[in-house]
Order: sequence, then C-alpha cells, then structure tokens
Amino acid sequence: MVIAVAGGAGFVGSAFIRYTAEHHPEDRIICFDALTYAADMDNLRNVLASSSFLFLKGDITRKNDVERLFSYHPDILINFAAESHVDRSIDSPGLFIHTNVYGTGVLLDACIEHGIKRFHQISTDEVYGDLPLDYEGDGFTEESPLHPSSPYSASKAGADLLVLSYIRTYGLKASISRSSNNFGPGQNREKLIPKTIWNALHGIEVPIYGDGLNVRDWIHADEHARAVDMIIRSGRYGEIYNIGSRNEISNIALVRHILEVLGKPCSMITYVPDRKGHDRRYAINPGKISNELGFNAERMDFDNTILSYAASFGKLTDE
Ligand SMILES: NC(=O)c1ccc[n+]([C@@H]2O[C@H](COP(=O)([O-])OP(=O)(O)OC[C@H]3O[C@@H](n4cnc5c(N)ncnc54)[C@H](O)[C@@H]3O)[C@@H](O)[C@H]2O)c1
Repeated sequence: MVIAVAGGAGFVGSAFIRYTAEHHPEDRIICFDALTYAADMDNLRNVLASSSFLFLKGDITRKNDVERLFSYHPDILINFAAESHVDRSIDSPGLFIHTNVYGTGVLLDACIEHGIKRFHQISTDEVYGDLPLDYEGDGFTEESPLHPSSPYSASKAGADLLVLSYIRTYGLKASISRSSNNFGPGQNREKLIPKTIWNALHGIEVPIYGDGLNVRDWIHADEHARAVDMIIRSGRYGEIYNIGSRNEISNIALVRHILEVLGKPCSMITYVPDRKGHDRRYAINPGKISNELGFNAERMDFDNTILSYAASFGKLTDE
C-alpha cells in the first residue's frame, strides 16, 4: 500500500511516519510537506534512507504540487498539514484559512479526481470549543456541536465540514479524527511543553497565560499515531473518531511539574496577560474509538519525555 502523508515533516505527522515505518514495513510512505518553519526533517532521520520512503517538497494549496504527489498513485492520503499554532492564528488568520481550509479543499478535489481509496483528515478537539472548569460530564463526543474559539480551531472546523461535504456530495471515502493536545519528541519550541523546558534550561522566565488554570487533555504523539493507524486500516468510512487519553491537567500544574522534574524553581514562572479567546478546558470523550476499534491510549512516561526533550536541547545541567 502507498500511504501519502501531507505535513509529515511536522511534529505529529513525523510520529505517524515513524510508527508506520516500524509497524508496516511492507507499505510505501510518501511524505509531502511544504517545509514551513514548523517542519523538522530531523524528526524523519530514521526513515530517510529507507527504500520504502520518499520525501516530496510540496504545498497542499498548490494544485500542481498536489498533482505531482498523485503521480505516485497513493492508496491513502492522510492530511496532517496545517498551520497549527493558535497564537500565530490570532496574529495572521488569513494564512490559517488559506492553508487549513483552502489547502484541504485542494487535496479533496485531487482525491475525487484520482479516485483515492481513502482520505483521512487530522483534526483537533479544539473544534468543539471549551468547557467550564467545573464541568463534570463525560466530555465532548463526535456528536457535540462545533464551537471553535480561535481562527486556528475555526479553520480546522471549516476543513472538517468540507471533508464531510465531499463524503456526502461526491461519495468520497474519508474519515476524520479529532485529537486532544499532543506531547512527545520533536515538537516546535514555541509550544507550551518544549518552550517551558527550553526556558527553564536557559534561565529564561517561563510565561504562563492568565491564571494558568486552563485544563488540557494530553496524549503522546506516538499514541495519536497508533490511533490514526487503526482508523485508516479498520475505521469506518464517513466517520469521525475522537482521540484522547483522559489525562487532564491544568497548564500551571503541568508547568510546575516540568520545573520539578528538571530541578528548577517555580519562581521562574511569570504570569502574562491571557491569550485572546483562551479556551478554559478541553475534555474529549474517546469512547467511540475504544468501543469500535479497541483503541485505548496508553499512559506514556511523561517525565522521561521531559528529560529526553531536555537532552535534545543539549543542556541538562544548571547554569
Ligand atoms: N500538536 C497537537 O497537539 C495537535 C493536537 C490535535 C490535532 N493536531 C493536528 O495535527 C496536525 C499536525 O499538527 P502538528 O502539531 O504536527 O503541526 P506542526 O505545525 O508541527 O506541523 C505541520 C506540518 O505541516 C506542514 N505544512 C504547513 N503548511 C503546509 C502546506 N501548505 N503544504 C504542505 N505542508 C504544510 C509544515 O511544514 C509542518 O511540517 C494538524 O492538522 C493539527 O491541527 C495537532
């Protein structure tokens, strides 16, 4: 099987490629990526030399680039490619609309034209919006209404709706997954966990938005990759699957824990004005993927992940 992975040089897409290379060596993988600031080819260093791996530089918003990808006749196309940083979306919403909505549309048109066997869209739990901190229910299900708060999550919701419309209108064989926050190696340094580690190791204040009580559900990127693998092989067409681990923690508790693991003082934390429209709490219900596909996220060793990030930043010792 030939699996095309758009956005495969990013944080989660590269975790999926590494997972597939390890568990399905019989498959061919094509990584299709525009190599924006968020890409890191080092995340793919273990597969680059493999004869079943091909890297194609290309932009999902450019039809000619996408046509070049389809000349390799992929059986499955998975779309991880996106502008993914909420803060950047607040500064430059247009780029997010262009990449995340229009780019997904270009991929969908090509899938219809070339009769792809399966298209899978990587989405996010942020499309559901947020919950109050004192919420006691069972979390967002796939049936929950879309209520995005940021230009990022709105653009992802827009892409999801486009995919659903292509399924209904053109009979596209497709599915969607919506994951909670990911952690793991290779994430861009501007995101919360790597940034906290980097700053802590370099003696820089660790900023935290607002009161820091915002709650997120964290899943390891390798587990996200495993879930996507199960969906593209056994998931039903036309379906949406939530991916989460019921591993909720507030931002302030997370940051304090990271500092503790690194042996740094909590006095490094500095509260900064809250992000505009900042979601209070995400809680995703992963019951459907558990019941249908038997996927249950394994708890990964968070402390070891922090230490390996720290080691990759090359500075574990005190200044
Ligand atoms: N990281 C998370 O916590 C998380 C959680 C839920 C869902 N997601 C979703 O997973 C996907 C991947 O997220 P990530 O954290 O790996 O993002 P990332 O920003 O690390 O990587 C995105 C990748 O897409 C590529 N890209 C951007 N624009 C492109 C374009 N026009 N054409 C081709 N490639 C392009 C970038 O070069 C980069 O390699 C996104 O769709 C995101 O919405 C991420």
